[in-house]
Amino acid sequence: PAASRPLVAGNWKMNGMRHAGAELLAMVEGYDSALAARVDLLVCPPATLLAQFAATAAETGIAIGAQDCHSATAGAFTGDLSAEMLADAGASHVIVGHSERRTLHQESDALVKAKVEAAWRAGLVAIVCVGESEAERRSGAALEVVAAQIRGSVPQGARGDRLIVAYEPIWAIGTGLVPTVADVEDMHGTIRRVLGEVSGEAAAMRLLYGGSVKPENCDALLSARDVDGALVGGASLKAADFLAIANIY
Ligand code: G3P
Repeated sequence: PAASRPLVAGNWKMNGMRHAGAELLAMVEGYDSALAARVDLLVCPPATLLAQFAATAAETGIAIGAQDCHSATAGAFTGDLSAEMLADAGASHVIVGHSERRTLHQESDALVKAKVEAAWRAGLVAIVCVGESEAERRSGAALEVVAAQIRGSVPQGARGDRLIVAYEPIWAIGTGLVPTVADVEDMHGTIRRVLGEVSGEAAAMRLLYGGSVKPENCDALLSARDVDGALVGGASLKAADFLAIANIY
């Protein structure tokens, strides 16, 4: 069960044209007061849709977030977006250090930490992603790999209302594979303990599980100890699936 109010967050990745606003509208319709009383919802569309989605979601209780930011405020960084720009477009959250960024864009723990600080500077909540590879899981190193990512990526003094951690085992992303509940509980317990080294508010931080979360498998995963919600990829693109996941709470 969740330590705090649960959050179901959707990471749309590089998916979504303007007409996908219809899915967001369906999410708004499904997020009735009964559901809103139990769970927070966050949708992170591609940056091209941020302002449109923020306008649609305004005053619905659904928060809108971005998927990455640069660490600088502004300047000569062609193609990049600052946390301030994302806030200006209507984002309240930003995902940083997703494994697709760490792997495909060679992002280090130090860079992820700088991005968290940039998010806070702009008034955004940072969602820091961590997770081990399949080889690291097989070799028994998963807990220590993720602990090192937390120590390297989370700034000292992190506040409970400004930091969310998403545990996403890389081998579970988009594969249909999920860890056992026992492994998720071990990992989330470790993450919370290591967060305690850098923050006095670790007990209040939300720890999300991500990786092949679907309506069919989410019940067990999201009922696990120290799991405060989900970061959902593929199943967040369709309102019916996303709402079905939120409705387990
Ligand atoms: O950030 C969420 C993501 O990496 C999980 O993706 O498609 O396995 O739910 P998916």
